[in-house]
Amino acid sequence: MKTKHLISISDLDISDITDILKTTFKLKKFQKEGKEYTPLSFKTLAMIFAKPSTRTRVSFETGIFQLGGSAIFLRGKELQMGRGETIADTARILSRYVHGIMIRTFDHKDVLEFAKYSTIPVINGLTDLEHPCQILGDIYTIIEKKLETSSLSNLRISDLKNLKVVFVGDGNNIVNSLMLLCAKLGMNLTVITPQGYEPNKKIYQNSLDISVKTGATISLSNKIEDIKNADIAYTDVWISMGQEAEREKRLNAFKGYQINKALLSKAKPDCLIMHCLPAHRGEEVTDDVIEGENSIVFDQAENRLHIQKAIMVLLMS
Ligand code: CP
Ligand code: NVA
Repeated sequence: MKTKHLISISDLDISDITDILKTTFKLKKFQKEGKEYTPLSFKTLAMIFAKPSTRTRVSFETGIFQLGGSAIFLRGKELQMGRGETIADTARILSRYVHGIMIRTFDHKDVLEFAKYSTIPVINGLTDLEHPCQILGDIYTIIEKKLETSSLSNLRISDLKNLKVVFVGDGNNIVNSLMLLCAKLGMNLTVITPQGYEPNKKIYQNSLDISVKTGATISLSNKIEDIKNADIAYTDVWISMGQEAEREKRLNAFKGYQINKALLSKAKPDCLIMHCLPAHRGEEVTDDVIEGENSIVFDQAENRLHIQKAIMVLLMS
């Protein structure tokens, strides 16, 4: 893979993306066959978490173990960084001990600063701006569900062009990474948010610029009816980590933007339901929809493991 770090989907060109997807396919197959594969033996991943996590922490930690290596879980506040040691010093120190660093934090700029001083790969495990590992896993899941599985070993990007993906909810970190990856893969994405909750303007513009070359269609809307003909309906929480104080305001703003059965009747009958999880059932999605037969949220969550193993193998081997 050409990129040294994975901080934004923007770091990846099309060959990096296909490398990740193909490696994921191989590693998932190995795991299902019970085949041992340990290219990261004696390698260590440091994982810094300034926010809570279930999927990201457990999938990275178990993932590197399955690849022969080990992980160190570091709570942001418990590092000397929490007492004022600089990011630059922390990055240079960790670079002398371990072989990769995964960071989940608030400010995206902190991860960029970390990467500037790190001599080893830095992986973004979610910031306020992006969640690239999640979205790579999600696209893998879409390919698995909507294309022939065999196409994963010989992926033709054009196969994804005919799918209509609709995101409904908050224009947050998930949407920012989703717009960039759909743009790079020439996909068709509609992002439906209430007014004032649109995704990051600069990333949207970047996605449009990329789309000119790839033929993707990335559009924004405030109209919930634009879910019509969706093949995939994706949502995420209305109140992301760090936004808890805005709860009441946000619950009001997002009324009418819930994915429920009535809304889904406007999508295609076989429209798949995606959610990065954790879900707030009864808010952005109803219980019957997330538990329904078209929901693929648990396969989506499982694929975090396989995609992140692929990312670690490609960056850290
Ligand atoms: N989707 C996701 O990143 O989940 P966690 O917050 O549990 O890691
Ligand atoms: N948008 C959510 C994603 C959680 C995986 C958050 O940032 O809290």
